[in-house]
Amino acid sequence: MSQTEDKLLEHNYDGILEYDNPLPKWWVWLFILTVIWGIGYFFYYNIAEIGPSQHEEYLAEFNTGSADAMRLIQQMNEKWAAIAYVPITDNDALEQGKAIYIKNCVSCHGANGEGGIGPNVTDNYYIHGGGIENTMNVIINGVPEKGMISWKPLLTPEEVQLVASYILTLKGTQPANAKAPQGELWEQ
Ligand code: HEC
Repeated sequence: MSQTEDKLLEHNYDGILEYDNPLPKWWVWLFILTVIWGIGYFFYYNIAEIGPSQHEEYLAEFNTGSADAMRLIQQMNEKWAAIAYVPITDNDALEQGKAIYIKNCVSCHGANGEGGIGPNVTDNYYIHGGGIENTMNVIINGVPEKGMISWKPLLTPEEVQLVASYILTLKGTQPANAKAPQGELWEQ
C-alpha cells in the first residue's frame, strides 16, 4: 500500500474534483490473476474440452447411481428368491416373530391373533390357505383390495419367515373374543 499523497486530477466537473487514487497493487494483481485464471478455465472446459462439461459430469454420476440401484435391486431379488418356506421353531426366533407381529399386525389381527379387521389367525379356517408357504405368501403379496398390504417393502424375507412362524404357533390357542372363522377348513 503506497504512502504517497493522493494527487488531485486536472479535470473539474462543475466544481467536483477527483483524486488520482490508484487501486492497491495487491488488488490489481489479484484481478489480473483472476482474469488469467478465467481464460485458462474457459480454454480448459469450453474450447479444448479437456475437462468434463456439466452435462458429462451429470451423466457420469447418473450412470454410477443407476448401476448402484440396479445392484441393490438385484441383491434384493436374490434374497427374496432364496426365501425358505420352512417354519422356524427356535424359541428366541419365535420371540422375534412375536415382536414383529406386535409391531405390525395386532391392529388388524388382534393381540392374540383373535382377528378384528383381519381374520382370526388362530383357527383352522383360511381364506388363502394354511401352512407356512401360504401364510408367508399372503404376508409377502398382501390382499391390497381387502386392506391387507403387501409387507414385501417393509419386512425382510427373514422377518416374514419369523412372523409367519409365530402366527402358526397361535393355531388352536382359542383366544377370547375370537372372530368367527373365515374361508375354508385347512387340512394338511
Ligand atoms: C390394516 C389391517 C391389516 C394389517 C395391519 C395386517 N393385516 Fe393381515 N389381513 C388383513 C385382512 C383384511 C385380511 C383378509 C384378506 C382377505 O379377505 O382376503 C388379512 C389376511 C391375512 C392373512 C391370511 C389369513 C387367511 O385366512 O388366509 C395372514 C396370514 C395375515 N393377514 C397376516 C398378517 C401379518 C403377519 C401381518 C403383519 C405383518 C398382517 N397380516 C397385518 C388385514 C391386515
